[in-house]
Amino acid sequence: MKFDKPATLNPIDRLRVVGQPLDRIDGPLKTTGQAPYAYEHRHQAVADAAYGHVVGAGIAKGRITGMELDAARAAPGVLAIVTAANAGPLDKGKMNTVRLLGGPEVDHYHQAIALVVAENFEQARAAAALIRVDYAVAEGAYDLAATRDTAKKVDQSATATGDFAGTYAAAPVRLDATYTTPDQSHAMMEPHASVAAWDGDRVTVWTSNQMIDWGAGDLARTLKLPREKVRLVSAFVGGGFGGKLFLRADALLAALGARAAGRPVKVALSRPLMMNNTTHRPATIQRIRLGAGRDGRLTAIGHESWSGDQEGGGPETAVDQTRLLYAGANRLTQLRLAVLDLPEGNAMRAPGEAPGLMALEIAMDEMAEKLGMDPVAFRILNDTQVDPNDPERPFSQRQLVECLRQGAARFGWERRDGRPGSRRDGRWLTGLGVAAAFRNNLVTQSGARLRLDRDGRVTVETDMTDIGTGSYTIIAQTAAEMMGVAIDRVTVRLGDSSFPVSAGSGGQWGANSATAGVYAACVKLRDAVAQRLGFNSADAVFEGGQIRAGNRSADLAEAAGPDGLVAEDSIEFGDLAETYQQSTFGAHFVEVAVDAATGETRVRRMLAVCAAGRILNPKTARSQVIGAMTMGIGGALMEELAVDTRHGLFVNHDLAGYEVPVHADVPHQEVIFLDEVDPISSPMKAKGVGELGICGVAAAIANAVYNATGVRVRDYPVTLDKHL
Ligand code: MOS
Repeated sequence: MKFDKPATLNPIDRLRVVGQPLDRIDGPLKTTGQAPYAYEHRHQAVADAAYGHVVGAGIAKGRITGMELDAARAAPGVLAIVTAANAGPLDKGKMNTVRLLGGPEVDHYHQAIALVVAENFEQARAAAALIRVDYAVAEGAYDLAATRDTAKKVDQSATATGDFAGTYAAAPVRLDATYTTPDQSHAMMEPHASVAAWDGDRVTVWTSNQMIDWGAGDLARTLKLPREKVRLVSAFVGGGFGGKLFLRADALLAALGARAAGRPVKVALSRPLMMNNTTHRPATIQRIRLGAGRDGRLTAIGHESWSGDQEGGGPETAVDQTRLLYAGANRLTQLRLAVLDLPEGNAMRAPGEAPGLMALEIAMDEMAEKLGMDPVAFRILNDTQVDPNDPERPFSQRQLVECLRQGAARFGWERRDGRPGSRRDGRWLTGLGVAAAFRNNLVTQSGARLRLDRDGRVTVETDMTDIGTGSYTIIAQTAAEMMGVAIDRVTVRLGDSSFPVSAGSGGQWGANSATAGVYAACVKLRDAVAQRLGFNSADAVFEGGQIRAGNRSADLAEAAGPDGLVAEDSIEFGDLAETYQQSTFGAHFVEVAVDAATGETRVRRMLAVCAAGRILNPKTARSQVIGAMTMGIGGALMEELAVDTRHGLFVNHDLAGYEVPVHADVPHQEVIFLDEVDPISSPMKAKGVGELGICGVAAAIANAVYNATGVRVRDYPVTLDKHL
């Protein structure tokens, strides 16, 4: 189904099932421990799996000059050792910047250089410790600040509209400030894990992955196998946050290990290995220049961002939101990319906008103060309803102002004292902060297959993943609404590369695109049902397990026949995605308390107001947003990969050293969804919301800390040493 005209009234709009705050249909499986995660499969095909242990490179850059494997080979239980020297020819794959199995060249610290396969985990780990590696260390670049001047301009996300330099220079009120965000780790709960089994020249990998088609494609490419010889299965994912968008070393090495050992092999990356072995969110240095008239209207907006990555990698697109968030005729955005030999950077939790708003929304707070304006009023004054670089291009929906207004009223913003450091609650200095939230709404082709059985049950199959987000549930809701059956009559099967290719879970495009794909397949199935039963599908109503038209009705099950009825389709998005700027908006309000003596910072209250199209399930959507707000606390106050700039590695490579918020750090959180439907986005009229939830949070916290203390911190995380 091609989606190239605004959506009209359709069965989804009945909202009997879609839009309801239903519990997750996969919840009972998870809470009873029956949902199998990648490392837990015990079924027939992997029953005799051996265990693989990954050896990571001990240097960041250079060359392996010798590898002594004999002692490990002779160790108890060892079945095979895989290295680049014996793995056979491997391609790099498309999605990764550097090879997943290094050697003899080493591209980054803890790049996998060997897999030891043994009868059990302890034997594999013990044998791995016996491997001796000699290296010739080469000099590398590990310090973003030191390489900043070598960074090259990147075309992506660049804008030059009007006369930025001239207008900025002449503006009566100006801000020129530089902000930094650190390297961050996804730190999802479930580590990367896979179990692989070969059947002749076919391999199946049960893994933990957000994008099945990307992963299967790259595994085939890397192993130089035809695509149809590779199957990836990832029915449950214990968190991804961008760290599982691609094939990673666990999956590739499980496949190579299983081939070498002649047995299924399971591999999990240990937590201490993950931080340097997998991808991370790259650090940024961001310079923002804002120019405004005394009336508070922005006339010049400039945002430049520097980040680094391995040769051939990409930038952190931290200027993306600045192209679209506020009005202002003269605009400049520019990314610059330095080559660093740190582990590979990539997408993490709203890549681009999340770190970009960490800077931009402090800058807006600083500018409001310079102008003597309230930060909410300042943002409202500079709203735009069109793409500020192209006035002919409207937003499909844009309710930023409503988000700010409703949030301010709900949060008690009028009680904020604009004089920093002026509110006290015993030993605590208290403050309020606000930030706008912005994240683009991406749409991607997505397919699904539906089957109607003779008992009237509907089964949906798509390679869409549920990374803890609620995909199972919203897909079941979509099929139930479209086919007019109760939700417990719908079975959803996800995360298998033998199912139709979906949008996958990334960039907050999954919910809207994948349900729209299911919608398309449902339309086909409705047609097939109507045709089989001799109904005119245009005026047929699907309800209560029946199809009705005029005074005729029939049970859906009748159409299934003994063999069932199958329909498959995908949604393809036309140029509505270009004609309209599609984005999601929100506002975050935060209250913090800072201990006047120790600088300890506690977040006391948080509110998010989101405008993100139709909310398919307010319960799972709220869970997404409060999770994202929690990550925002991490981004503001805790999360930082500490770079050893001499040896080129992240030092704090476990959850003791890499701090994320725990329950005691998370205060009262409230989420409001504005009533919005967006007929431009898809037949579902929905958008993404998960990543919107993190966008702006950290700046709202930093602004609240400033309001509490009067100390402006421009370097994240905002730890107490920086504002004492
Ligand atoms: Mo997202 S960072 O594209 O999983």
